[in-house]
Amino acid sequence: MKKDADNKNPINELQKKRWSPRSFADTEIPKGKIYSMFEAASWAASSRNEQPWRFIYGLKGEGENYKKIIDTLVSWNQKWAKTAPMLVVGVAKLNSDYHNKPNEYAHYDLGQAVAAMSLQAISDGIYVHQMGGFEKDKVRNSFKMSDNYEPMVAIAVGYLGQPEDLPDDMRELEEKPRTRYELNRLIFNGDFKP
Ligand SMILES: Cc1cc2nc3c(=O)[nH]c(=O)nc-3n(C[C@H](O)[C@H](O)[C@H](O)COP(=O)(O)O)c2cc1C
Repeated sequence: MKKDADNKNPINELQKKRWSPRSFADTEIPKGKIYSMFEAASWAASSRNEQPWRFIYGLKGEGENYKKIIDTLVSWNQKWAKTAPMLVVGVAKLNSDYHNKPNEYAHYDLGQAVAAMSLQAISDGIYVHQMGGFEKDKVRNSFKMSDNYEPMVAIAVGYLGQPEDLPDDMRELEEKPRTRYELNRLIFNGDFKP
């Protein structure tokens, strides 16, 4: 299934093709492609080049991490994310290496790293679906995380599956066209009138 962006202005192919599926194929991701995703994330820009992103990942059928991560997801996300061969948690490092005070850009920078990861993934035909629906405290406990780190996002990763494999309500969402606000609601070349 294709859910390319219905863009009004030309955009690059990777942005056009990226979307967030809920049905994943039962296909392993080659290790090299996984490292390319994390490598791309590591080359994102960050305030003072502090790189305040950390990633915990788990592969289905390998070690404990996959199960630990799936246990942190809210049940609605568990229902579909369990089809993904890989789960990731994106973590922000909160205090700055520079002055050991809160780094106000930590979350912003983590988001940029995940965006870079998503585009690298789609360049290899791999799809990324971010989730806010998970329990941060479970992640903290499960991975013995200090207060200097904040789990911000869970991420399902894999190759595209079939919408028919999803429960009915999710299949509808999977098949629904993607929409965006008109640009004139978002950008201002004069007064800021949101
Ligand atoms: C920070 C963040 C949290 C999200 N949380 C969830 C979630 O808990 N469950 C879910 O199914 N999708 C979640 N999404 C996916 C969004 O719903 C999706 O990105 C949005 O509808 C736009 O669709 P697209 O990514 O296909 O363009 C989340 C996305 C982001 C960036």
